[in-house]
Amino acid sequence: MHRRTCWLALFLLGALQAVHGFAAVLDVPTPYIPSTPGNADEMLRLAGVTPTDVVYDLGSGDGRIVIAAARDYGARGVGLDIDAALVRESTENARKAGVSERTAFRASDIFAVDLREATVVTMYLLSGLVAKLEPKLLAELRPGTRIVAHDYGFAKWQPDRKQQISKTYMLYVVPARVAGGWQIDAPLTRGRDFLLDLQQQYQQVRGGVRVQGGFLPAFEAQLDGGKISFVLVENDVSYRFEGTVSGDAMEGVVRYGYGPKLNEQAWRARRVAVGR
Ligand SMILES: C[S@@+](CC[C@H](N)C(=O)[O-])C[C@H]1O[C@@H](n2cnc3c(N)ncnc32)[C@H](O)[C@@H]1O
Repeated sequence: MHRRTCWLALFLLGALQAVHGFAAVLDVPTPYIPSTPGNADEMLRLAGVTPTDVVYDLGSGDGRIVIAAARDYGARGVGLDIDAALVRESTENARKAGVSERTAFRASDIFAVDLREATVVTMYLLSGLVAKLEPKLLAELRPGTRIVAHDYGFAKWQPDRKQQISKTYMLYVVPARVAGGWQIDAPLTRGRDFLLDLQQQYQQVRGGVRVQGGFLPAFEAQLDGGKISFVLVENDVSYRFEGTVSGDAMEGVVRYGYGPKLNEQAWRARRVAVGR
């Protein structure tokens, strides 16, 4: 490229990015600025897309992320965009890429579509729209659904992973709702009332067990989608709980004892009080 043309292109690119950043703060409508094919691939890679996934791109532009998910990762994909012309272009692009059967595009406002089916959500949207979407995503998406944001993430929800590869990508795993009181049935309860009290902020959990007027803190409490783990210590023995959350029930395995070969027993819990 001629040197002057090159500088002009760089200047225009910088101006466009500045406007994009400024717009993010002002909560203006999200314009059409496509991810590059490389950006799209980083998003799908960070989400760990597999052929069993259903990838929703919110504000799908010319369909490139959905098409890449189907063509390169064998997934099924759905693109939603408010701009009907872009949706027509996406449908045509999918046909040319030979992935029409595994992709669908809808001309719609994101807020008008039920997103429950998605196992992966991608979005390259300005911060104002991302903030408005947060409650919808948390209410509709199933625990374990992966959300990848390109450049603009959630304000308070900390990403489970953040990558900087030319651009910024943030991975959020939708957490199960575990806040509240849970009655645990496990070997160490020995007929005692074991009430696990959990507080939750997105995927961050903390709390402990109330038992016979005492309190056992839940150490190393972690929530990964619908998978929960924590450690209770009683009489100098660590009880390592791992389980899965399904609505108002949890069940899993607790390991305890000393040395590499731990005792292993099943445990379950049922929710007795819903927390916030
Ligand atoms: C920055 S572009 C990203 C396009 C594509 N996801 C990509 O990464 O190449 C954002 C897209 O969101 C669309 N959009 C903005 N607000 C929307 C809304 N409320 N509902 C659906 N689409 C929307 C715009 O038309 C635009 O195509």
